[in-house]
Amino acid sequence: MSKTIPKPPDGGSALHSAPDLEWLEEDVPKASAFQDTYFSRAGGLEETRHVFLGGNGLPERWQDCETFAIAEFGFGTGLNFLTTLHALRRLGTAPQLKFLSFELFPMTKDQLERALGAFPELATETQELLQTWAPEPGWCRFAFEGAELLLAIGDARVMVDDLLGGKVVMPEIDAWFLDGFSPSRNPELWSEELLKAACDLTAADGTLATYTSAGWVRRNLQAAGFAIDKRRGFAGKREMVVGKKG
Ligand SMILES: C[S@@+](CC[C@H](N)C(=O)[O-])C[C@H]1O[C@@H](n2cnc3c(N)ncnc32)[C@H](O)[C@@H]1O
Repeated sequence: MSKTIPKPPDGGSALHSAPDLEWLEEDVPKASAFQDTYFSRAGGLEETRHVFLGGNGLPERWQDCETFAIAEFGFGTGLNFLTTLHALRRLGTAPQLKFLSFELFPMTKDQLERALGAFPELATETQELLQTWAPEPGWCRFAFEGAELLLAIGDARVMVDDLLGGKVVMPEIDAWFLDGFSPSRNPELWSEELLKAACDLTAADGTLATYTSAGWVRRNLQAAGFAIDKRRGFAGKREMVVGKKG
């Protein structure tokens, strides 16, 4: 179990306010506080499919399992969750999805609607999310056909303790989507301590994928207990990283 995750200076009681956004090319949100976009300007949906689904061997790994647990640092627009749900629903026999995500700055319904409007393929899933979207600080559970979304609204470094301590119950994680903002702008989500907590929560054959191949993130992943490998990145990016517990 991970013991000492450095906490934010205010102990995690920062206001969980909606992010201040700029919009690039009309519908690509960029967080002013982090000076980074929520997904690739070259195509968010395809990026999610390439990096997070493909990088974790999905949907192939969904054959022959009853439940499958995914966890993510940074819910953002919900694009990763909705793309995953969409892919799962296209399978004849699909496992029940448990999707855990952490978000310190939950978007408003209007912000989500604008960002997700760029992906008409996900219109059904987007409408379902918008209808149920009412994030409150703390733990929120949202039910979808085929999936349960468990959202930690707060600082991931603080909220993860509830999982490590068994206060909040979640199956062992089969696949991680490591999707903080760029490590240089959002180092909190890439620290060795948080990644160690992620590893502790992971099933023995669990995997991870991330779009970044920053050297210090790779080293933190290894120190946390993951064996990592590089793959071709999305849209001209030379590399991304995948990994396995172990
Ligand atoms: C690149 S975006 C995630 C994009 C998202 N996965 C999607 O599908 O749209 C990174 C997210 O991490 C969130 N974040 C940054 N620092 C955080 C922290 N300490 N705890 C929880 N969430 C955090 C940001 O607010 C932002 O929504």
